[in-house]
Amino acid sequence: MSKYITTPIYYVNGEAHIGHAYTTFIADSVARYEKLRGEDTYFLTGTDEHGQKIEESAQKNGKDTQAFADEISATFKNLWDEFGISYDKFIRTTDDAHKKGVQRAFEVMYAKGDIYKDFYEGHYCVSCETFFTETQLVDGEFCPDCGRSTNVIKEESYFFRLSKYEDALLKHYEANPDFIMPRSRANEVINFVKGGLRDLSVTRTSFTWGVKMPESIKDDKHVMYVWLDALLNYVTALGYGTTEANMRYWPASVQLVGKDILRFHAIYWPAFLMSLDLPLPKHIGAHGWWTRDGEKMSKSKGNVISPKQVSDAYGVENLRYFMLREVPFGQDGDFSQRAFIDRINSELSNDLGNLLNRIIGMSGKYSDFEIDSVDVLKYHKKEIDAMNVVLDSLDAYMQNLQTHRYLEELWRLFSIGNKAIEEHAPWVKMKEDKKDEALATVALVANILAKASIMLHPIMPKTTNIIADTLNFKIDNASYKELVVNKNLLKLFNIKQTPPLFPRIEEPLMPEAPLAHPDAHKEAPKAVAQCAKEQDNLIEIGQFFQTSLKVGIVVEAEIVPKSSKLLKLKVDLGEENPRQVVAGIREFYTPESLINTHVCVVANLKPAKLMGMLSEGMLLAAKDEEGLCLIRPERPKKAGTPIG
Ligand code: MSP
Repeated sequence: MSKYITTPIYYVNGEAHIGHAYTTFIADSVARYEKLRGEDTYFLTGTDEHGQKIEESAQKNGKDTQAFADEISATFKNLWDEFGISYDKFIRTTDDAHKKGVQRAFEVMYAKGDIYKDFYEGHYCVSCETFFTETQLVDGEFCPDCGRSTNVIKEESYFFRLSKYEDALLKHYEANPDFIMPRSRANEVINFVKGGLRDLSVTRTSFTWGVKMPESIKDDKHVMYVWLDALLNYVTALGYGTTEANMRYWPASVQLVGKDILRFHAIYWPAFLMSLDLPLPKHIGAHGWWTRDGEKMSKSKGNVISPKQVSDAYGVENLRYFMLREVPFGQDGDFSQRAFIDRINSELSNDLGNLLNRIIGMSGKYSDFEIDSVDVLKYHKKEIDAMNVVLDSLDAYMQNLQTHRYLEELWRLFSIGNKAIEEHAPWVKMKEDKKDEALATVALVANILAKASIMLHPIMPKTTNIIADTLNFKIDNASYKELVVNKNLLKLFNIKQTPPLFPRIEEPLMPEAPLAHPDAHKEAPKAVAQCAKEQDNLIEIGQFFQTSLKVGIVVEAEIVPKSSKLLKLKVDLGEENPRQVVAGIREFYTPESLINTHVCVVANLKPAKLMGMLSEGMLLAAKDEEGLCLIRPERPKKAGTPIG
């Protein structure tokens, strides 16, 4: 069975923001997931270009409407191309084929008796050429836009018999409880329909920027209402009314929309389809809205996040991961730099990145980078079984658009890998002359990374391709079948040395600052290239002394609830009060073992917040595949003694 995935088509009255990127990332991930599984998949996105709103935006910008639409539509397309969005078609409602398809649909509905001509009555502002509802008016009379007095006027309009489909719609919701996802959103739609549907005005005479009426219906003063025009894009993109070339993809498997436009997609759209005798989409997935630091984003507040700005600063794949991991599908989400950086550092850098580094390090040391799965099942049956349970659980989450659960479960694989390393301590096995066992653990983790990167591929395509390249395989349908479906293990291979994929981001959290920090960490390969060549990066002694290093004595230490990595310390640096230092050392030290011990502290770092707690310094430590140890003075020194 084929798969068809759509995003809403975006209005061309402004450039893309983070909400548009979110819908597009989910749809892209679902489409990539289906393609990976070998499904014949078609993924559509595009722009919605007609209607009074666009006409007015063009006028405000002093541009010809078509030229304005061309310009903004191109900004969407270029951004999606830059982000590597894997759409199969980018539709524009100003495309000829689309317009023809819409006219054809109008004719079909008209011939069926579902469209009739009548009068649209409302409060009309002549100056703005706009109808308003009674509730929109100021003091029951004045135009909310220009303040002029409005008149009650009647405009001739064609109407779609929406009321005729009330019962059929209710029956459909009942028979298909997953039609609207998540299910929790279905009630608002059902109640709306139960409240009674009025026939829908589907043409306008007050402006001209729209699809013209079909020639067979000779009525030139009307143009089509923008939502009729826009919703039909989902079938005209497949050739409805023209070539019919790709109609085999219809009905859509999932149509992604924001909660604000659910009604249009869950009520009008199915009714139009019923009228056209076309099957209904399998699912309409309605996601929540993004706020920024808890506030609604708006141009007037100046707090709208541009996805381009975030991706320039942190990399588009980190952004994809964050957005899909952070929010349960259907709920509203908040974009804060703090949450974003925490996830990159703890989940991507620590859990995934470090595991890969450890495997590269150990295999280099123990077997000259050769990895062989031959003994994995002998020593690690338990871990393999646990891994397979996780792999089998993932599909249901993706099918339900629960990307946050999908990723949460996927991350269990990294815990299995990390735990196996701690429990089996390959470096000890090497010393005990049990090389087979040590190498089996390394190979187990390589297999975990390979399978996890296949399943992470739809969300982070480029990053996972680098991981696959490191592990000497390609992510495609064949490896998906081999390693995920058939649960085979990697063949004997040489691991490649890959520079760290997720450099930690140490920026202090400054919610009031613009998101795009010019020096913030770029996508992995570039950042890596910079630090790889130390020889090119020599510093003067004066630069070294810009860092203030001091001996500190730990006076308090406690765990940080909900963090498996962090400890919160109070460190005496010989100042009036001890400093609070939040350090990622929980896996290696208990709080008790640190009290009254000496540490070396970077004392002039800008304070940063970690998990919302202020950290006023950094401990020096050395870390390799065998773990982490703190750097301490050889003999006790007074708190605050300078180092250097
Ligand atoms: N053109 C119509 C859709 C027609 S589909 C046949 C439209 N366009 S839009 O550009 O205004 O919005 C597109 C999508 O962006 C909607 O799904 C909307 O929910 C989503 N978002 C707009 N602001 C958003 C947030 N702040 N957060 C999340 N999504 C948001 O509506």
